[in-house]
Amino acid sequence: MRRPLIAGNWKMHLTRQEAVVLAQQIAQRSGDTTTADLAICPPSVYLDAVGAVIRGTDVGLGAQNMYFEPNGAFTGEISGSMLVDLQCRYVILGHSERRHILGETDEDVNRKTAVALELGLVPIVCVGETLAEREAGKTAAVVSGQCAGSLAGLSAEQMQQVVIAYEPVWAIGTGKVATPEQAEAVHADLRRLLETRYNAAVAETVRILYGGSVKPDNAAALLSQKNIDGALVGGAALKADSFFGIVAGVGDA
Ligand code: 13P
Repeated sequence: MRRPLIAGNWKMHLTRQEAVVLAQQIAQRSGDTTTADLAICPPSVYLDAVGAVIRGTDVGLGAQNMYFEPNGAFTGEISGSMLVDLQCRYVILGHSERRHILGETDEDVNRKTAVALELGLVPIVCVGETLAEREAGKTAAVVSGQCAGSLAGLSAEQMQQVVIAYEPVWAIGTGKVATPEQAEAVHADLRRLLETRYNAAVAETVRILYGGSVKPDNAAALLSQKNIDGALVGGAALKADSFFGIVAGVGDA
């Protein structure tokens, strides 16, 4: 049985003070949640302060990105070991904003994923098609291609540590959520792909999150789908009430 994961991706939002207050609110309410793992991914400059607030609670700390080199002359980058040093448990990799705005490739995501796993971080690897790709009937090909590239070379054991996030680009920050059926179809495809590339045990273990305009009023319908194992939440994760409104969508499963 896969335990759901609800992760808040705070993107490049909030002041330091706002981040600390939001983390406090989430930490306070997290004890009521027994049916899902919770994670928050603040901007990297707030990881330390937010981490101090949630330490000792069940809320996991996540980063939004990392670089694949361990250290060196890479101005502006942050290594995986630095994230470990800050007691991060998760790292989002290959988010569509990094792929489409900042030019990250599957190969970059693959190198980062391998390093994150070596360091004991849980990579949340994002995939998803653009609207043009969906309309051209290329969703399955794009998503499976991104998975093949981003997850290349991982052993079955490593793969079981990875979380995949399906985030259709057209649903991110647009208010246009995928229908539960549209999302479930892609999640089921991804799980079949894992079975083909690895085995049934891996396919059954890997959590596949949905992301893209998840809100309290659509969360339950998405999260009740067989192959949707949680959510990666942007805008609605910036307020404790809406974050926990989504967590409530997990129900008592
Ligand atoms: P929104 O929930 O704001 O659409 O963002 C989704 C997302 O990109 C999470 O990583």
